[in-house]
Amino acid sequence: MYDEMAQVVENRPLAGRHFLLSLYSPKQARAVRPGQFAMIRLPGRSDVILRRPMSIYDVRSRDLKGGYGLERHGQRPAVLQVLYKVVGRGTRLMAELTPGDRLAVLAPLGHGFFPEEYLAQARDASEVLLVAGGIGIAALLMPARDLARQKIPQRLFFGGRSRHDLVGLSDFKPLVEAITLATEDGSRGYRGYVTAPLAQYLEQRCERRFLILACGPMAMLQVTAGLAERYNHPCLVSMENRMGCALGVCLGCSIRVQGEGHAAYERVCTEGPVFWSNHIVWDP
Ligand SMILES: Cc1cc2nc3c(=O)[nH]c(=O)nc-3n(C[C@H](O)[C@H](O)[C@H](O)COP(=O)(O)OP(=O)(O)OC[C@H]3O[C@@H](n4cnc5c(N)ncnc54)[C@H](O)[C@@H]3O)c2cc1C
Ligand code: FES
Repeated sequence: MYDEMAQVVENRPLAGRHFLLSLYSPKQARAVRPGQFAMIRLPGRSDVILRRPMSIYDVRSRDLKGGYGLERHGQRPAVLQVLYKVVGRGTRLMAELTPGDRLAVLAPLGHGFFPEEYLAQARDASEVLLVAGGIGIAALLMPARDLARQKIPQRLFFGGRSRHDLVGLSDFKPLVEAITLATEDGSRGYRGYVTAPLAQYLEQRCERRFLILACGPMAMLQVTAGLAERYNHPCLVSMENRMGCALGVCLGCSIRVQGEGHAAYERVCTEGPVFWSNHIVWDP
């Protein structure tokens, strides 16, 4: 983990109050594994004291043309990308960033998607199902690239409130075999929650074995974990609890996990943010 002052290369507005922020930070970009996150602080803004946790969406070469196949072209990652949605004061200020601005970035944090374990499970599965709700999509691009490199088939289930929440699709299209979309207002894809077409897919293929990787709102993760249990598929969830220190000190991000007594809590920032879904106590 490195504590760096990273320079903004680009802060590109996307649909529906979403932005793709690119930060020049070579040491951090080279160290990132799928599922890890960064803590971002706006220096000089005493009104926004806490750092904001953000998944690392992607890593790119300095000219931003790298990404998938970086290694093949002999380039090394130098830029961290963060896909974020403006929801409050901190993210509103992030939206005002322009190239050349500098941010305090602590990254990479968390252990991510357990690289060996999830790749081994993925190889045993007939398909990996990526399940994203809203900005949860940001945690899934790096594992999707990893799986695509290993030629493991994958399918994306992606839901949002409206079509404006369905950002990043063009990044996923070359990596996955199929994409199922859902919106609560019916403006794109299936009308309703994304867990409905997911349930249908699992029900119709109950003889097959899938690995599920999910990130999104707590309710979506809980339903996805329930479906994984019902159909007996391994499932990893990336949790987005509110965080204070992100260093394992304040305990503000603790969640209940299977086990006995007081020890049955784990910190999302250090033991997570990714957990096997059956390790979490969903109704503590
Ligand atoms: C590990 C992790 C990874 C994350 N990755 C991303 C990402 O890639 N892109 C992204 O846009 N966001 C991500 N988030 C959520 C992001 O950290 C919050 O949206 C952000 O901190 C809000 O800051 P703010 O000052 O704009 O909002 P605030 O003023 O702090 O809050 C505004 C509103 O957002 C809600 N909110 C704040 N934090 C969270 C949260 N963690 N989960 C749900 N609701 C929240 C508040 O309850 C409030 O309603 C991640 C969170 C975690 C813990
Ligand atoms: S945020 Fe402080 S312990 Fe996790």
